[in-house]
Amino acid sequence: MGGEARSVVRSPPFVSLRLRGYIMRMAKTHSRYICQSCAYESARWVGRCPNCGEWNSFVEELIPGKQKTVRAMGVSGAGVAVPLSDVDIVAEPRMAVGIPEFDRVLGGGIVPGSVVLVGGDPGIGKSTLMMQMAAGLSGPPTLYITGEESVGQIKLRASRLDAPPADSLLLLAETNLEIIEPVVERTSPGVIIVDSIQTMYRPGLESAPGTVSQVREAAAAFMRIAKTRGIPVFLVGHVTKEGSIAGPKVVEHMVDTVLQFEGEQHHAYRILRAVKNRFGSTNEIGIFEMHDTGLREVTNPSELFLAGRRSGSSGSTVVAGMEGTRPLLVEVQALVAPTSYGVPQRSSTGFDARRLQMLLAVLERRAGMRVGQYDVFVNIAGGIRVDEPAVDLGMALSVVSSLRDIPIDAGTVAIGEIGLGGEIRTVSQIEKRVAEAQKLGFVRCVLPRNNTRSLPRHDGMETIEVATIDQAITKLVGA
Ligand code: TYD
Ligand code: MG
Repeated sequence: MGGEARSVVRSPPFVSLRLRGYIMRMAKTHSRYICQSCAYESARWVGRCPNCGEWNSFVEELIPGKQKTVRAMGVSGAGVAVPLSDVDIVAEPRMAVGIPEFDRVLGGGIVPGSVVLVGGDPGIGKSTLMMQMAAGLSGPPTLYITGEESVGQIKLRASRLDAPPADSLLLLAETNLEIIEPVVERTSPGVIIVDSIQTMYRPGLESAPGTVSQVREAAAAFMRIAKTRGIPVFLVGHVTKEGSIAGPKVVEHMVDTVLQFEGEQHHAYRILRAVKNRFGSTNEIGIFEMHDTGLREVTNPSELFLAGRRSGSSGSTVVAGMEGTRPLLVEVQALVAPTSYGVPQRSSTGFDARRLQMLLAVLERRAGMRVGQYDVFVNIAGGIRVDEPAVDLGMALSVVSSLRDIPIDAGTVAIGEIGLGGEIRTVSQIEKRVAEAQKLGFVRCVLPRNNTRSLPRHDGMETIEVATIDQAITKLVGA
């Protein structure tokens, strides 16, 4: 409970509530009720204590109201509107991190005074990435503010990494913003790293660290530092189990850049994506591999992604799905085997079972595929779930590929929704999907015919237009 109780007033419960409310507002106070026999607290006056059962034991305590201060956030001028033509463009010199994959995601290095949020699951390697970034920076010392680990733990991590951090790394194990702010003032760092934003707090606020108001206040405090002093700030934020960035989500709109660091639990690769970037494209991804000596860049990502696949095996197609606004390439696997019992089995992992039934019916009726006497198992490799019609085409092609035991070319990505008539329907955000496929080293895309009109030319990417599932099968699996 914040605030000191100034006075204790015997509360006559019969005083008009409206009058009392008025007096309290004038005095800028609010109150709580305390049981005199057991110290039980209540927001309202009650006749009998629910805790100790004592009658008429509650007295009112007045808590003096705090002066609310509103702090400015974002940029603020001198209150003068200027014509657009009078605004000078100053080319912002960017600071290179020295890790090309990272620099590219940032849009070509760190912009002075920018605030970057780095989100990701616990244990994915955010602190490692920040430490490696700090090691590669030149110029004034970097201030690493740690709220989760001791300076000893940080030192231990640093010693495991390939490049030992320069002497110009200052460590500060602190979570209180009132203490951190003067330190920033004194040390004038070149870059500030806050690990993590959820642990930072301002003592004046009543809520606990990690709550929405504290996280927002901490982000605003670092925004002010960044904007007024021109120091770039990296805020590390944890994603909660549910997938939402509970704390950091509330600051996403405040910061300049949001980077998402993600990966598979059973794989060593990590993907750094720009989800939002005021200073660059959000189409960039950086791919890393976690080694025992830290993160290493993956210069040829397609190799990594195709590594898990058995090229030349039937029943496998790569599809380009979307995860919210982000494209995601996944492998769709199917296994079609003769039914040994009376009723054919259909089993799907990571894909809607009813959608699979529908696709099988379409294949049977519109493409003449006799799947009725076969068991069909489908699986989205990597343990993720895709519930998007755009993966229909890839799924159908995998089934046909397995049924006929003819592999589909490993450099091909299939994109398209299948309708009940066997037609291939257009999908949204085709450009992003194709761009992602190209980025990951694929050379051929099977697309709905109507989608290709809106698609700009991609050099080095062959496009195969299809209007029906029949055509797609003919072109990819053979007649
Ligand atoms: P960490 O950066 O602490 O993750 P986060 O800050 O996102 O919570 O490290 C994540 C994991 O990486 C941890 O389980 C240990 C492992 N790791 C390595 O495999 N190699 C290394 O060189 C380092 C520093 C960590
Ligand atoms: Mg960490």
